[in-house]
Amino acid sequence: MAKKKGRLDFIKMKEAHEAVAWVTAYDFPTAQFAEAAGIDMILVGDSLGMCTLGYQGTIPVTMDECISHCKAVRRGAPNTFVIGDMPFGSYQITVADAVANAARFLKEAEVDAIKLEGGQRTAGALKAIADAGVLAMGHIGLTPQSSGPLGGFKAQGLDPHSARFVIEDAIAVQDAGAYALLVEAVPPELCSFIARKLTIPVYSIGAGGPCDGQLLISSDMIGMFQSFTPKFVKVYAHVGQDITNAFKEYVNDVHTGAFPTDEYCYHIRKGMEDEYAKMLAEYE
Ligand code: KIV
Repeated sequence: MAKKKGRLDFIKMKEAHEAVAWVTAYDFPTAQFAEAAGIDMILVGDSLGMCTLGYQGTIPVTMDECISHCKAVRRGAPNTFVIGDMPFGSYQITVADAVANAARFLKEAEVDAIKLEGGQRTAGALKAIADAGVLAMGHIGLTPQSSGPLGGFKAQGLDPHSARFVIEDAIAVQDAGAYALLVEAVPPELCSFIARKLTIPVYSIGAGGPCDGQLLISSDMIGMFQSFTPKFVKVYAHVGQDITNAFKEYVNDVHTGAFPTDEYCYHIRKGMEDEYAKMLAEYE
């Protein structure tokens, strides 16, 4: 079994130009599959709201839901670096709340780090969390929790004016003491510029390469989440279709009597068949 990676390994990987491959997971089996596949780290994203709980977005996701899913992932991937995603409302109200909620992720779910969205506007919470001794990752560019103010799930930094804003966010995140940064849905030129400029690892989701690693939402890449698939997602499997096909076949088997056949049944103990039949007859 590979040794669990930590912050220093991720810094070494940045220095060696070795890209980190990470995915989201929200449950025990997916976490087990990720660990077995050699995934470098796992994000328990608040995308769990859409991908597993059926919400329209990430806003309704609660701290308790995040903690519960982080615990399941921790149990499934005990030897993988796991990051808990701070849900909307858990770090925007007061800095004290932000630190207390970040601490809950570590104490209750035993994750290795937390992630929060926003650059300059959430740098105060990020600094307080980092100062409290929690490994904190920033998340800038397209930040799904603020898709309302951003005008939807839209790529960011497409023109020099908004790219400048993304760069200022990146600097604010590093200055606040984050150990890493995730950049979402910006042009590759901007993400790789930020990765070269910052000393902390800079990861991309939908922001191309080269940078220090790539994140994809597992439900998107394996075809489990079917409402929409962002442009930047490479689909590696069609698990949702496989499950639907399996269920369809099962429905047909049950309706036609093709299931269950003898091989799927428990059998009366050998030599007791007559006695068994007599006993049943008593109840006729
Ligand atoms: O919740 C999540 O999965 C995320 C990704 C979109 C980066 O924050």
